[in-house]
Amino acid sequence: MAVTIKSKSEIEYMREAGRMLAIVHQEMAGIIKPGISTMDINRKGEAVIRKFGCIPSFLNYHGYPASICVSVNEEIVHGIPREDKVLQEGDIVSLDAGLIYKGYHADAARTHGVGKISDEAKLLIEDTEKSFFQGLKHAISGNHLNDICSAIDGYVTPRGYGIVKELVGHGIGTELHEPPEIPNFKMNRRGIRLQNGMTLAIEPMITAGSPDTKWMPDRWTVVTKDKSLAAHYENTVLITEGLPEILTLLSEGN
Ligand code: MF3
Ligand code: CO
Repeated sequence: MAVTIKSKSEIEYMREAGRMLAIVHQEMAGIIKPGISTMDINRKGEAVIRKFGCIPSFLNYHGYPASICVSVNEEIVHGIPREDKVLQEGDIVSLDAGLIYKGYHADAARTHGVGKISDEAKLLIEDTEKSFFQGLKHAISGNHLNDICSAIDGYVTPRGYGIVKELVGHGIGTELHEPPEIPNFKMNRRGIRLQNGMTLAIEPMITAGSPDTKWMPDRWTVVTKDKSLAAHYENTVLITEGLPEILTLLSEGN
């Protein structure tokens, strides 16, 4: 499959999908506090997705058993929600959500602190977000894919963090995962030329320690080998001639 270029009407659907997903994230963020379970977050996210008449795209994706990935502390991504996994003050929690609206996908992730968190955790969350925005600056028609990848790397690596290598961002549209793959580290090639109408999910996954990963026995949850904290930040973005449009953020930010 080649990298798809979305038409005007497809872009409208993706904008709408993204806007709704931004609200899903806002609503999930609103219930985070010590004492709730990761399944409570999944229930909230799925309810909002369905209220919008959308389909939770992760549910049953390659057998994934929930609508929201909820990953706590050393869990990087794909944490499976559980009734008996309860958030504690000081935890950090990454929420990854996706929905389908009229056949078009939106995909976004946020990392939140639970109650008061350490300065180290706060900085990790902020720097993960900032690395996304560094990459985004280069997500402009005429640039190459590696301009995004190396900008993320150039922000993260000098600060002493680890960049997860096994998991990458991706094109998105009528499929959750379309080409190209978008690593969060510098590639040794330019990669594709970015064009108007491409829609990309850019998603740095950053660790406070070593970037080495391990898959848990549930065969989904990816954790840091050294148990260091990890953060994830993702938006679906549209490439234009000028500044890229972030489809999964409301104009007020969220
Ligand atoms: N949100 C993930 C991504 O960014 C996909 C989740 S995979 C699932 O690519 F199986 F958990 F759904
Ligand atoms: Co994604």
